[in-house]
Amino acid sequence: MAKTVTLQGEGFENVELPVLSGTLGQDVIDIRALSKGTGMFTFDPGFVSTASCESKITFIDGEKGLLYYRGYPIEQLAEHSDYLEVCYLLIYGELPTAEQKAEFTKIVVEHTILHEQITSFFKGFRRDAHPMAMMVGVVGALSAFYQDSLDISQPRHREIAIFRLLSKVPTIAAMCYRYEKGLPFNYPRNDLSYTANFMHMMFSVPSENYEPNPVLVRALDRIFMLHADHEQNASTSTVRLAGSSGANPFACIAAGIATLWGPLHGGANEAVLKMLDEIGDVSKVPEFMEGVKAKKYRLMGFGHRVYKNMDPRAKIMKQTCDEVLRELGLENDPKFKLAMELEKIALNDPYFIEKKLYPNVDFYSGIVLSALGIPVSMFTVIFALARTVGWISHWNEGASDASAKIGRPRQLYTGESRRDFVPVEKR
Ligand code: CMC
Repeated sequence: MAKTVTLQGEGFENVELPVLSGTLGQDVIDIRALSKGTGMFTFDPGFVSTASCESKITFIDGEKGLLYYRGYPIEQLAEHSDYLEVCYLLIYGELPTAEQKAEFTKIVVEHTILHEQITSFFKGFRRDAHPMAMMVGVVGALSAFYQDSLDISQPRHREIAIFRLLSKVPTIAAMCYRYEKGLPFNYPRNDLSYTANFMHMMFSVPSENYEPNPVLVRALDRIFMLHADHEQNASTSTVRLAGSSGANPFACIAAGIATLWGPLHGGANEAVLKMLDEIGDVSKVPEFMEGVKAKKYRLMGFGHRVYKNMDPRAKIMKQTCDEVLRELGLENDPKFKLAMELEKIALNDPYFIEKKLYPNVDFYSGIVLSALGIPVSMFTVIFALARTVGWISHWNEGASDASAKIGRPRQLYTGESRRDFVPVEKR
């Protein structure tokens, strides 16, 4: 028998609400009939108890520390797959056959070059602009350059926009870095893998040969895989909400990038490195921890809204972090030693244990990115690059749903009651 929940209260008849079950995870109470039946709304700031949509893309169990993309555990994908294959999986719902993978890779790799006019667009920014400021602007501006794929009611237009975003976001990301550094832009190299090409666009200089180190390419590819999607987080929810209005995909992804920029979301790995710089030395760790416990500031890279156990991505990232530091001979670098000391103390401290605060993926990804030579100001850009596929998969899921409604939350109004206007001379 179908499960229901019955609401009783003053001023309305009993209201029976259906309980819906997904494939995995907690049941949800379908409250669509609530307002009509009770004359009331629900109040849930931060969406702590609210499922905003139905989705088939990613599953998270925060208590058990599980993360599945289309049913596949992240650990298996991180070990056996690569970023572009994961992109295919997130977009189409299945792992590609060898033929599908080759065709998908060819399409993405061959469209990495940008409309040349976008180069001039960059010149409008100040040289000291934050790379995320440029990312938001330039990705949003893609809708001005690729106007032939904006009819979102057509699946083929949506698919072309998806390819364009996947192909061109790394090129834009590398240009943000090169522009800030005053270095010439590098054209993409189609003979390299997606991730190796990104490293080439970032680090290659005209005066030298650049061959990406395979261990470092694999580490970065893994960072991309681990950040590819994370169900209805703040930026993905923003993309879906923007998409629900029928806005074009480039504008929606720009909205996601803007949301990711915040330090409590994508800015966390940048905040981790800033925090390490502020602490400065291992000897200052105990004093810093006292400040955390006194709630003067937070230990960045620790805690998660959903994972109240170890973040499964953090486990994989820690392993990658060890590999990269070993490959680059940085195990004894003071900054990385300081990070490891913080991790050790926090994992054994009752304050963190009681509050279930474990290192999240960004604690380690910040360290790996820094070891790869990527400046701190680019960290959130890398996250945005990797997350573009998650955003666009969710956008596409929303845009393909003919029954979807525009997202429009309600509010609990606590402002002034009605009052009459007072002319300025009488105030
Ligand atoms: N350092 C110290 N105390 C913390 C931290 C932290 N990093 N995170 C949470 N707490 C404490 C907090 O003070 C509160 O204590 P109390 O119960 O005594 O008031 C308790 O833990 C619960 O915190 P909360 O703010 O209610 O938890 P939340 O689920 O709303 O916040 C979070 C999750 C990620 C915003 C938070 O843990 C945080 O600010 N972490 C640092 C920033 C960070 O690393 N963010 C990256 C998240 S992972 C990337 C992503 O998926 O976007």
